[in-house]
Amino acid sequence: MTDPVRLWRQLADASVLLDGFHALKHATRFRAEVPVAVTTDREAALALAGELAPDVRDTLDALLTEIPEAAYATLVARPHPTSVAALAVRPSRETNLRALARTPRTAPVVVLDNPRNLGNAGAVIRLAAGFGATGVVTTGTLDPWHPTVVRGGAGLHFATAVERLDVDELPPGPVFALDPEGDDIRGLKLPDDAVLAFGSERSGLSAALRARADHLVSLPMRPQVSSYNLATSVAMTLFHWSATGGAPTGS
Ligand SMILES: C[S@@+](CC[C@H](N)C(=O)[O-])C[C@H]1O[C@@H](n2cnc3c(N)ncnc32)[C@H](O)[C@@H]1O
Repeated sequence: MTDPVRLWRQLADASVLLDGFHALKHATRFRAEVPVAVTTDREAALALAGELAPDVRDTLDALLTEIPEAAYATLVARPHPTSVAALAVRPSRETNLRALARTPRTAPVVVLDNPRNLGNAGAVIRLAAGFGATGVVTTGTLDPWHPTVVRGGAGLHFATAVERLDVDELPPGPVFALDPEGDDIRGLKLPDDAVLAFGSERSGLSAALRARADHLVSLPMRPQVSSYNLATSVAMTLFHWSATGGAPTGS
C-alpha cells in the first residue's frame, strides 16, 4: 500500500486541498477524484459519516487512511476540528468550458467580474452549488480555486463548473448585469440560460462587462444605502431566479 503521507507530499502542489470532513463529504458526493484522504481518527470520521452522510460512508471508508497526529500536522497548516483532510484533482479547463458551453442550459451561470475577496468567491460557489447553477466564472486575477476560496466553498467546487475567463469568453446566453442603477429585478423573470454578472467589491461592473450586458438589473434597496455585499447580491438574485420558476437541478 502506498504511504499516504508520501503520496500527499507528491501531489499537494497540483491538487485541491479538502480541509475537514464536510469538504471531503461534499467533494465525494459530487464525484471529485480523491487520490488521498487522511484522518487521525478513522473510527470518529466514519461515525460522523454514518450520522451525517450515510450516502457516502462506504466511499469514505474506502478512501480514509489513519495517520498519526504528528504526521497530519505536517500536511495541513491548521488542523481542522474534524481531523480529516484530503487532496482532490482539479477539473481541467476543458471540462469546465464544456460544461459552461453546453446548451440548452437549465440553470444560470454566475459571473463575478474581477472579484477581490476570496471569502466572497467561496460563498458564491457554495450558493451556486446550492441553487444548481451551471457554473461560476470569474474575470480578473483572482484564482477561483485558491485554497481560501475552496475553504469558503466547503468542497462544493465539484458541484458546479468553476473557471476563470476573459469577458469576451463568457458562455452563451443573455447577460443580466446586476447594478443598483438597473431595472428592478422584481419586475423580471430571469431565464434559465441567463448569464448573471456581478461587479467587483471595490468598483462595481467593469466597462467591458457593461458593454456586454443585455440587461441592467437592480436589487431593491432604500435610497440611503449604496450597495449590498457581493455574495448576498448573488444569493438574492439566484433566489429570485428560483422563486420565479427556475428549479435548482437535482431537486
Ligand atoms: C459591493 S457591490 C459594488 C460596490 C461598488 N462600490 C460600486 O460602485 O458598485 C458588488 C456588486 O454587487 C452587486 N450589487 C450590490 N448591490 C446591488 C443592488 N442594490 N442592485 C444590484 N446589484 C447590486 C453589483 O453587481 C455590484 O457590482
